[in-house]
Amino acid sequence: MAILITGGCGYIGSHTCIEMLNAGYDIVVVDNYYNSKPEALARVKELSGKDFPFYACDIRDEEGLSEVFAKHQIDAVIHFAGLKAVGESVAKPMMYYDNNVNGTLVLWRVMKKHGCSRIIFSSSATVYGSENASPLKEDFPTGAVTNPYGRTKYVIEEILKDICVSDEEASAVLLRYFNPVGAHESGRIGEDPNGIPNNLMPFLLQVAIGKREQLSIFGNDYDTPDGTGVRDYIHVVDLARGHVKAVEYALTHTGAMPINLGTGVGYSVLDMVHAFERINGVPVPHVIAPRRPGDIATCYSDPAKAKALLGWEAEKTLEDMCRDSWRWQSQNPKGYDE
Ligand code: NAD
Ligand code: UFG
Repeated sequence: MAILITGGCGYIGSHTCIEMLNAGYDIVVVDNYYNSKPEALARVKELSGKDFPFYACDIRDEEGLSEVFAKHQIDAVIHFAGLKAVGESVAKPMMYYDNNVNGTLVLWRVMKKHGCSRIIFSSSATVYGSENASPLKEDFPTGAVTNPYGRTKYVIEEILKDICVSDEEASAVLLRYFNPVGAHESGRIGEDPNGIPNNLMPFLLQVAIGKREQLSIFGNDYDTPDGTGVRDYIHVVDLARGHVKAVEYALTHTGAMPINLGTGVGYSVLDMVHAFERINGVPVPHVIAPRRPGDIATCYSDPAKAKALLGWEAEKTLEDMCRDSWRWQSQNPKGYDE
């Protein structure tokens, strides 16, 4: 028995590989290195002390993927492989629909051909759109998304729900991530973004290390305690452990199940900046800039369902998130390009 991890070389995938190996699972990884480097998996092997099969394969390559399933008995798939840059998805929607939606269709077809009907899918809090009030619960309406990236997540959720209605063997756990930050506590693996980071923590880290001059805080006139945007930041290792629990759930249940992976606590942009400075003793020069189009004031989870169904809850603190992010960044100033 083995668990296939698509996109296992990426930020969340590499941390999940370690937690799956620590939990005693055999894993098989596929990734096309579109947004990752081989060094990440070399370090996963070093940290876990375990080896596992890897295939440099695009999930849209039906033949290549079939060969992987022919070689290994795959019982479930954790499906991270996807593109995730919101701005790029607006400029290149076809690329996003093809990679994310078509990629998932090919994956499911190959899975079924080889008798595998269990998938854990990387969805996003973005499916809740801007019209729901936080704390966000899984039974709130979804779909009012504002960009092609978000639409791929919503559409894939709907496809997997339809499949689970039509196929009584199918199991799909739809994990809605809130805002992943942090890194493995060893400082050996972490997020290694290409180009100018869009997300708060990677940008803040590049300012802290002196690669960028200052952080622009996108708006301080939101209806939040200090006027800056509030999000549910979750440590990537907690998130990774949520996947181990989701695999256990998928192996013992059928049907489609959306589940939030968040902490249930919201922090503002200024909370994050001040916490980072205090915990690491490193200044983060910042200025207030105009709001970023498409941003909402507040987004945080109700994490009760994950606790009830998976027996999982986030354990790491804001201090852990800030300290571990900085350890990764300061020990690897060029990411995996040492
Ligand atoms: P990432 O880019 O670090 O990892 C994705 C991995 O998938 C990369 O290694 C990439 O090379 C690979 N990949 C992409 N397309 C592929 C394809 N066609 N075939 C094979 N491999 C392919 O991203 P991440 O932050 O680890 O995110 C993982 C998943 O979680 C993504 O689906 C993303 O949309 C989703 N997600 C991420 C966040 C976040 O803030 N990081 C939030 C919500 C959801
Ligand atoms: N922010 C800044 N300056 C920056 C970057 C971000 O002030 O340079 C602010 C944003 O305005 C927002 C907060 O920091 O208030 C978090 O922004 P991120 O870009 O880090 O995260 P988002 O919540 O906007 O988006 C994330 C993922 C999306 C996903 C969404 C919902 O990046 O892929 O969560 O799950 F769709």
